[in-house]
Amino acid sequence: MSVGLVQAAYVVAALFFILSLAGLSKQDSARAGNYYGIAGMTIALLATIFSPSTNAVTWIVVAMVIGACIGIYYAKKVEMTEMPELVAILHSFVGAAAVLVGYNSYLHAPIMSSAEHTIHLVEVFLGVFIGAVTFTGSIVAFAKLRGLISSSPMNIPHKHKWNLAAVVVSIILLVRFVEVGGTVSALILMTAIALVFGYHLVASIGGADMPVVVSMLNSYSGWAAAAAGFMLANDLLIVTGALVGSSGAILSYIMCKAMNRSFISVIAGGFGQEVAVSSDEEQGEFHETNIEDVADMLKSSKSVVITPGYGMAVAQAQYPVHEITEKLRNHGVNVRFGIHPVAGRLPGHMNVLLAEAKVPYDVVLEMDEINDDFTETDTVLVIGANDTVNPAAQEDPASPIAGMPVLEVWNASNVIVFKRSMNTGYAGVQNPLFFKDNTHMLFGDAKDSCQHICAALD
Ligand code: TAP
Repeated sequence: MSVGLVQAAYVVAALFFILSLAGLSKQDSARAGNYYGIAGMTIALLATIFSPSTNAVTWIVVAMVIGACIGIYYAKKVEMTEMPELVAILHSFVGAAAVLVGYNSYLHAPIMSSAEHTIHLVEVFLGVFIGAVTFTGSIVAFAKLRGLISSSPMNIPHKHKWNLAAVVVSIILLVRFVEVGGTVSALILMTAIALVFGYHLVASIGGADMPVVVSMLNSYSGWAAAAAGFMLANDLLIVTGALVGSSGAILSYIMCKAMNRSFISVIAGGFGQEVAVSSDEEQGEFHETNIEDVADMLKSSKSVVITPGYGMAVAQAQYPVHEITEKLRNHGVNVRFGIHPVAGRLPGHMNVLLAEAKVPYDVVLEMDEINDDFTETDTVLVIGANDTVNPAAQEDPASPIAGMPVLEVWNASNVIVFKRSMNTGYAGVQNPLFFKDNTHMLFGDAKDSCQHICAALD
């Protein structure tokens, strides 16, 4: 393939990636978005493999086959609920790749002019820095999401001063690295600092802010890829990295707004946040209900809102939930869904599950669209949701989730909570909703409970 043809193929691939992002932003065009992404990546890979500047094609193909086999194995095996962990660990690979590309590019730098050499050294330094932060940060995010380490924030004394010191020392090392024409000791020292910095930055962020961390690391991995693109002089990698980096940053910003968190505070490792005290103690008496009573209540309701959460994903209850919806709609009941922006464990988690079960899109509403309607709702079914319906976010300033907008389900006439026990949700805080007079607990696996209610509705 000629150089011109490779560049043309890269432009086409970049266009496909943009179309892919546009498609993925809406449920009904998401499938097409995926196909655009696949087409773009296929063109990009073929153009790179057959580019005149590519050597050792055999090694590339061998690496791709091994990588593809591992990828297909995990993609088939992974549960939907484990998706954020998978995404987090994949981000760490991008970070590691940027570090390795940086060192390789430093050790095998081509002959270049003095100005070009200085630019090259800055690219190497920044690429390795971003890559190393992304690498350890993503590993900590993976460990937190998998429950291998505690999700509560790490609080070493003067933690923000340590973070600031890491950045300042890295800048001094950058100046030194460029001034003396690149000393490997400065590069190695900065890599060690960046690895510890990445670890500390993510370890300092508490469980409730993990959604933002995952999308923020997504953004970092994009910038790491863009930095690798500069080092390899690969235009497509620069464009793709910038697309991932900026879309991840936009998503982090949107999620921070949805959770009423300061974007700067989260990306700076929880800077400016008070350490909240979480309590998982029960707060009074709760009322228990049973299948028949819930079915009767639903039949006599005119308006029902279903607010699903992580437990619906764990139980895979979306199919019986859809059946309940259809039966109630056939009875003339107005059934709608209220989706919290961080319900579940990944952005759009609930939307994906409901779409999978073929729940019509037009009854699936965002939190802001439904929150005012709870006062006129007869029954709310909280299916495996906890933090996203917790009134403590509004009522208790000391709560770790204080200030996070929540679904105000308690304003409805009746609330039925489907869960297995009185255990807390992801943020580890008890939920005062469970102890309100108009709330009834339906204990058991959400799928079993929904199936039994479905049968009882006949
Ligand atoms: P959570 O607060 O995580 O609560 C889920 C509830 O589901 C638990 O209380 C659990 O109670 C119940 N549950 C688990 N398995 C169940 C089953 N088989 N049947 C019935 N119930 C079951 O859920 P949420 O309201 O969706 O909130 C999401 C939380 O995750 C937020 O804190 C959010 O910040 C965090 N998070 C979100 C994301 C994204 S991007 N969405 C990413 C990372 C973290 P039992 O154990 O008693 O059954």
